[in-house]
This record gives sequence, structure tokens and C-alpha cells, in this order.
Amino acid sequence: MISQDSIQQILSRIDIVEIVGSFIKLKKRGANYLGLCPFHNEKTPSFTVSPAKEIYKCFGCGRSGNSIGFLMEAEKYSYVEALRWLAAKYNVEIEETETSPEYKQQQQVADSLYIINHFAQKFFSEALMHSDEGQDIALSYLKQRGFREEIINKFQLGYNPEGRDGFTKAALAAKYNLDYLQKTGLVTVRDGNAFDNYRGRIIFPIHNQSGKVLGFGARIIKKNDKAPKYINSPENEIYVKSKLLYGSYFARQAIDKADECLLVEGYTDVVSLHQSGIENVVASGGTSLTPDQLRLIKKYTSNLTIVYDGDNAGIKAALRGLDLALEESLNVKLVLIPDGEDPDSYVNKLGAVAFRKFVDDNKKDFILFQLDIALRDAGNDSTKKSIVVNQIAETISKINKTEDFTRQQDYIKQCSEILKIEEGGLHALVNKFIREKIGKEENRVSRDQRFAEESIGTEQANAMDDDIAVLLNKDEIHEQAMIRSLLEFGLKDWSPDQKVAEYIFKEIEENQLEELIDNKELVRILRTYKTWFDEGLEPVAKNFLYHEDLQMSALVVSIMDFNYEISPNWKEHFEGHIATRDELFAEEVFSTLNYLKLRKIKRLMDENQHDLEKATLTEEQLMLVQTHQHLKQMEIELTKQLGTVIFR
Ligand code: UTP
Ligand code: MN
Repeated sequence: MISQDSIQQILSRIDIVEIVGSFIKLKKRGANYLGLCPFHNEKTPSFTVSPAKEIYKCFGCGRSGNSIGFLMEAEKYSYVEALRWLAAKYNVEIEETETSPEYKQQQQVADSLYIINHFAQKFFSEALMHSDEGQDIALSYLKQRGFREEIINKFQLGYNPEGRDGFTKAALAAKYNLDYLQKTGLVTVRDGNAFDNYRGRIIFPIHNQSGKVLGFGARIIKKNDKAPKYINSPENEIYVKSKLLYGSYFARQAIDKADECLLVEGYTDVVSLHQSGIENVVASGGTSLTPDQLRLIKKYTSNLTIVYDGDNAGIKAALRGLDLALEESLNVKLVLIPDGEDPDSYVNKLGAVAFRKFVDDNKKDFILFQLDIALRDAGNDSTKKSIVVNQIAETISKINKTEDFTRQQDYIKQCSEILKIEEGGLHALVNKFIREKIGKEENRVSRDQRFAEESIGTEQANAMDDDIAVLLNKDEIHEQAMIRSLLEFGLKDWSPDQKVAEYIFKEIEENQLEELIDNKELVRILRTYKTWFDEGLEPVAKNFLYHEDLQMSALVVSIMDFNYEISPNWKEHFEGHIATRDELFAEEVFSTLNYLKLRKIKRLMDENQHDLEKATLTEEQLMLVQTHQHLKQMEIELTKQLGTVIFR
């Protein structure tokens, strides 16, 4: 853990223009800086950096954030990685806080394993390129398969000689610890003797996102029925198979640019495609994709294209678990390579241009493909067919609804046509699965109160179902406006003995926060603000921008928009002099608060009305009518006040 002190030091030096400027060319334009957006292709610059607000925003693709967010987006760093990058840039020495002994121990082991892997990679490369055995047996084999030296060097391919313990001896002579050598899987100890594990094999180093070697895949050269074709590193502190994808280090920029990730099965497929200039490709090793791997892809793109040989059992493995991809909002396509070929052999046969065209022309939709296979299996059996309908409905239900609503609708339409069933029926079935899923989530949530916030997420999802999302959105603008005025004007004087923030908190307390503001994220910002304010810390927007809770900081960025339009009404009423927001802050605070109060009253009136319709006892009715009149009076008051502010 980086100490709070170091974090503060880093944050105090941040200069967003300088940071963004080290990635793209920026030109000064008024108070802001302008450049070509690094996140989407554009010819005229719409990427704006505000040094005053310390945020960037692209008016083309809509992306926005602070310096740390920029690094996370541009370099796919984690929060901590971004901090470390900044620390290096500004020469801030990072002070680590005390960590648990177990964690420290694990870090030490990890560091040692990285060092050994680095040593091994150098050793194997040297053996491949510069030893007689390597050249005669391994390099000639690779060259005969069409791999050129340039690509061999880029992927740092190597060779472990056939002799019993060439590598082991070298590693021990270099004073590497035998236990750690075993942990890497490079060395085996049997009957007290240590020897090489990957003898006579081509070595494929597997890199992490920053190019360090996590482990190795070792391919046999001579056919041998007794030995496995590949030996892979055993799981250890750094090699965690479920979290890595072979080639991701070399593919990341190309994936970003192409906005598509090709997934193949094997090491050689990745290297071959790279050699022919198709660089947006990674390999899974033939197993089904794990959630971590999907997330790794999702960092760079939402478009995943699986390129597998069609005859192979691997295709079933690849399809398994892909429902998970839908939940991650990944767009999955499938390309089947003709029988007897794999991407490596096929690109060698067709050449890069034709291979690329083949991929583009043969993309099948993953859901429709699944349906196709299942239907073929089911034949005319109606029981089997109804199972297929259920399965496809479940798959469709996993499409992240809030993000991909139209996509889900499209699938329902297409699949019902293929299945020759009523669209409405399939729709109902999909909704049933969605409800079940929400139900399950709610159960889980109630079991664990710590995640209470998530249940609000599902409440909101339910609300979406009822199509009131549009209405909520309009309301949310006003909620955001309130938070914005708090963030911007909170420390100004409301009255001689009261700050704006204090006034707002008092008003909110009287009206009850939860009833005033629906969006729980905004409530969280407000609470954080209050805590900071009460503790005498500076609850200014900047501190929110650099809050470790990225959801919160992202929301603050989106609230602190650049172009704040002055209300046309205000313009008319201040003839000659257009007042700035700063001058009008009191009105803004007052009117945003009152709007929310008004909304609350309207809601109470609706509820009251509802009760009134159901009420049967005269006494009850009378009471409800009185309540109505009282609320109505409050409504009139508030509307009047709002009116005087805007139209005085
Ligand atoms: P393949 O058998 O298709 O190998 O396995 P390949 O990568 O195409 O290699 P070449 O072209 O025959 O030389 C696909 C992937 O499955 C994993 C490896 O990751 C391999 O790249 N695999 C295969 C293993 O892990 N172990 C094995 O014994 C075989
Ligand atoms: Mn192959």
C-alpha cells in the first residue's frame, strides 16, 4: 500500500496539461487546451483539457476524467499503477505503509520468480539463436514452419537444450534459489537430483501487461507419444492461468486501435498472425474463457471475435462460459476456420490480406450460432426444441440490459424468427429469466448487508422495466445540479454566520436526504462532503476528482461539466450585464434545492391521492383531503419562491 502521505505528494504535483500532453499534442484555446482525442479517431480536435478544473473531456466521444482517469484509460493502468507512473514522472519517492508479513512474503516470492523467469528467458533465447544445438534443431524447425527471426526475437522465443541439466546448472551457478527454481516449473528435483523440466523444447515466454515474463509454454519438437505436446508453467505467485491471455502484451495497442480482439487457441497461432501483420490477437490455450480473462479483454475493447477451427472440440470449450461475456457487455462473434486448418496454418496458406477478408466475411453472431447448433441437434424432437428455446432465452437475458437494451430486443426478434415462435412469447420468457436473476441477487444481497448498495442497483433495474427511466433521468439532472452547486459554492458565505454548505445540510436534514435525492451515488457524494466538511477538511471538487473510489470521482467529473449554459431567463433579466454563475450562486443553490423539495411534495401528493382513491371511511377521507390541502399550500409557496428567483 502506498502511504497517504505519498499519495498527497503525488496529487499535489499533478499537472493535467503536462500529463495529457505527454500522450497527445495540445494547443491552448482560451482557458482550456485542445487536441485530437486519443480514445477515438477524429480529424478535428474535440478533446478538451481544463487546467483549472483538472479534468479532460472529449466532446466527440464523451469520455471525461481527471489525470489519473486519463492514465487508466490511455494505458489501462489500475489506480495504483497510475499513481506509481505519476510518482516516477514527478520523482516522488513512494513510501509504502506497513503491510502484513504474509503479503510481504508473497511479494518477495513474486519478485524472485520474475527475476528467475527473466534469467531463464535470456538463457533460452541465447540457446536458440547462438548454440549449435539450438540452431540445428530448434531454429531450423521454427524457420521451416515459416517463423522469421524478427518475430522470434519479438516474442522472445527460446529453446531448452536436450541435455539433462544445462539450464539448472546455469541457474544454480548464478545463485538462484532451488526452491524458487522449482516453483517456476523450470527445474524438477527427483531423488535428490535437480534437472531441466523442458528439455528439448521450444520455449514460449508468457508476458504480463507490462512485458514481464510470468511463465512459459514449452513445445516438444520431436513427435513423442509418451510426452505431452506442451508443458506449461505450474500455477504460482505470478503465473495464474485464469488471469492471463497469451500475447496480450503485444496485442494491447492493436486491440485498442482496431476496437476488436481476436481470440485463437494456440501460441503458434498468435505468433503467426502477428507475423502477417494481424496484431490484435491473443490466445486462451484452448480452455474456456474465465471472467478475469473476459475482463482483461474488456479493458481494451467490447468486440471479441473467436477464431477457432470448426472441427475441433475446442470450439465447445470456447463457447462454454461465454454467457459471461454477455454479462460483461462483450459483443461476441465467431469465425470457424475450415477443417484441418488452424489460424496459423491458414494464414500461411492464404496470406494476410485474404485471411483478414476471410475473418471479416465469416463472422457469425455467437448467440445465433449457438442457436443454430442447438436446433440442428434437436432436429424434430419438440421436447428438445423447447429446451433450446429456454436456453436461448436465458442466454439473451444475460445481455446487460441497461447498456444493450436494443441489442437484446434485436436478438429476441431474430431468434423468434429462427425458432418460428411468437416474439411476444420469447420476450416474456426472457423477462422471466431476468426477474429470476434479480431475485437471486436480492437474496444474496439480503444475506450480506454490506452490499446493500447493490440492491439499489436492482431496484433501479426494476424501475427501468417500468419505463420510468426517462422520467428519472430528467429528475436526476436536478439532483446533479444540486450536488454541483454544493461542490462549487459550498465554501462561500450564505449569510454572515453560515456557509452555503451549512445552509444546504440544514435544509436537507429537515427534508430528509433519502426522500430528496434518489440517486444513491449522489447521496454518497453528499455524505462524503459532509464528513470532510465536519472534519475541517477541504471538500472541494478537486479532492473528489482524486478520490480512490473511481465511481465517485467519475460521477463528480460528469457533474462538473465544462459548458454550463446560463439560463436564457437569466440572460434576459440582466440586460447588458450577463451575470456569471459565481455571481448568481445563491439563486442557484436556492432554486435547485427548492426544485427537489417541490418534487418531494408532488410525490407525497400523488401518494395521498392514491390513498384517497382507496379510502372508504369518511374520517379517513377527511384527513387525507386535509393533507392534500396542506401539501398543495406548500407547493404553491415553493412555486412562488422558485418563480421569484427566476423571474424577478
Ligand atoms: P494445439 O495442439 O492446437 O497446438 O493446441 P498449437 O498451438 O497449434 O501448436 P502447433 O501449431 O501444433 O505447434 C492449442 C493450445 O492448447 C494448449 C497450448 O496452449 C496450445 O498452444 N495445449 C495444447 C497445451 O497446453 N498442452 C498440450 O499438450 C496441447
Ligand atoms: Mn497449430
